[in-house]
Amino acid sequence: MKAVQSINDLDVNGRRVLLRLDLNVPVDKGEISDTTRIERTLPTIRNLAARGARVVILSHRGRPKGERDPSLSLTKVWDTLAGLLREHSVQFATDCIGPIAIQAVERLGKGEVLVLENLRFHAGEEENDSLFATALAALGDLYVNDAFSCSHRAHASIDALARQLPAVVGLSMETELDTLHNVLEAPTRPVIAIVGGSKISTKLTLLDNLCVKVDAIAIGGGMANTFLLARGYDVGCSLCEPSLVTTAQDIELRANETNCRIILPKDVVTAPTPDSVDAIQNVPVDHVAPDQMILDLGLDSSNDLATAVRSYHTLIWNGPLGFFEKPPFDASTNRVAAAVRQYTASNRLISICGGGDTLSALHRSGSMQDFSYLSTGGGAFLQWLEGKQLPGIAVLMK
Ligand code: 3PG
Repeated sequence: MKAVQSINDLDVNGRRVLLRLDLNVPVDKGEISDTTRIERTLPTIRNLAARGARVVILSHRGRPKGERDPSLSLTKVWDTLAGLLREHSVQFATDCIGPIAIQAVERLGKGEVLVLENLRFHAGEEENDSLFATALAALGDLYVNDAFSCSHRAHASIDALARQLPAVVGLSMETELDTLHNVLEAPTRPVIAIVGGSKISTKLTLLDNLCVKVDAIAIGGGMANTFLLARGYDVGCSLCEPSLVTTAQDIELRANETNCRIILPKDVVTAPTPDSVDAIQNVPVDHVAPDQMILDLGLDSSNDLATAVRSYHTLIWNGPLGFFEKPPFDASTNRVAAAVRQYTASNRLISICGGGDTLSALHRSGSMQDFSYLSTGGGAFLQWLEGKQLPGIAVLMK
């Protein structure tokens, strides 16, 4: 996909490059608990710095709602980044616009890097305010978006700013766009999607779009319960959305028309509550007692899915299959993930996984290196699966 330009299409030598990254990393007890997002930014920063750019990094962290919140400062991220980029000078400015930012950028030499403080400390960021974008634009000559995972937000540093400067994508975003485009628009067929998570209501458009794009959809998690209810099964006191039974039936009809196979569990793991792990049962879907909750796919269903995956060449995975946060209800996610890893490793499957919960579930189940591609996007990955154009990408295509 080459509809947008990338950093390699521009001469950046001596230019001030505003680089929008997603440094919204998880922090636990004051420490960054997962540095994946930071590591993904390194190729673009190194490329720009090596070619003589003055690299000015923009990012948000958390949702401070336009207020300065020290617990959401980017200083910790700056520390980590400076440690990873020892070959470059990496500085920090305590504001992202105004005199502090202007002076810090003026001091920045060729090949040096500057991290500006959290964009969302200013309300103008989330409001997509053009004046705030103008204040950012004053700090740079070129704009680079390397934050696919923020590109579903029409915020100033993603949208308004890209309209004010020559704008291109960074290397990580370029790879992400290419991979995602190939997987939905020109995939190696047949394609299977695994869609899990708790509610259909959050994934209606996604299921609708996938029906016409893929050959099979395996549904798990709480979502599967609504589909089972729609097929006439009693789901006991499981999480489900009775008001969406007709919608689930419509999705099945649509899938039927497009020859997309819908795979639902034939057996399930139940318990009276997620905490009653000593009262777990594995039962066929037509034997769920009224006082039981479905908390995972059953052993036969997860084994079947692990085997079925073998007949596909491309797999898109969004959403855990069971209540994965509470073992042993992570068993089916782990079992299917092991099969996906194995087929991917033997080059029989291209596996693309994305979404916040999905990545944490798969991370708990083993190495993340064994999947073909992990999307950095949570909300952005979902919107892409829904077939929507992301504002941050649309603006770069103009
Ligand atoms: C994310 O973590 O998905 C991105 O950084 C976007 O964050 P947001 O949902 O707060 O806009």
